Amino acid sequence: MSYLSDAKPLSLNDFRKMKAAGEKLAMVTAYDASFAQLLEAEGAEILLVGDSLGNVVQGRDSTVAVTMRDMVYHVECVARGARRAMVIGDLPFGSYQESREQALRNACQLMAAGARMVKLEGGAFMAETVAFMVERGVPVCAHIGLTPQSVHQLGGYRVQGRTDAGARQLKADALALEQAGASMVVLEMVPASLAGELTAAAKTMATIGIGAGPLCDGQVLVLHDMLGVYPGKKARFQKDFMAENGSIAAAIAAYVKAVKAGQFPAAEHSY
Ligand code: KIV
Repeated sequence: MSYLSDAKPLSLNDFRKMKAAGEKLAMVTAYDASFAQLLEAEGAEILLVGDSLGNVVQGRDSTVAVTMRDMVYHVECVARGARRAMVIGDLPFGSYQESREQALRNACQLMAAGARMVKLEGGAFMAETVAFMVERGVPVCAHIGLTPQSVHQLGGYRVQGRTDAGARQLKADALALEQAGASMVVLEMVPASLAGELTAAAKTMATIGIGAGPLCDGQVLVLHDMLGVYPGKKARFQKDFMAENGSIAAAIAAYVKAVKAGQFPAAEHSY
């Protein structure tokens, strides 16, 4: 049985109940109204307006140059197409790191554009900012592990948390973010066993994996990767659901079904 009602927009409470019941959350990135409508119709519960639009929409080689103006525009587009799904807006690089006041100001812009939660990258060092936003009414999804906005600092797109020290840091980060009030956390390119530990330790914060194995509370894929339309080298964690399905709608439905059944990601998509 699902806790979800078709009639009303999904709330934080729905996601908490789903985590407690072991019901997997299906998240996909979205950048426009038509896809928002289709993704929602095929069962995606969370639409992330990711700054990955810098790569897949704008053709850049990283997310670093994405602006608040870009994000506001795409959040508005997606929010017009979504009714029931939770729309999350990504805070772009440079829009939240300076001060908690800067983060709140920009988060409010995304909320005014139609987001119902905002996402930011960073671990324990962002906890004070997360608490500041949550206390003022802005739900937050954190993002740890491989954080693409820091690609130049990290030296490339690599699996994180493989060493003892790295794993300890990610555990401390997840705990600090949950204590600060984050509702969700994206775990990107993290060993599957570590993501399982982080998921078990998080009592209220739902973990959403991308390259983090099957034990997370939910999964996210970039829409263009899921549909196999993004050119270039594929990361291990990506799966092209269009390859085995005859239409975009069928590919999205297959992704949602595989996430819900715990069949995606499989071992070959995990680290
Ligand atoms: O911007 C994005 O699409 C993301 C996902 C990869 C989680 O942050």
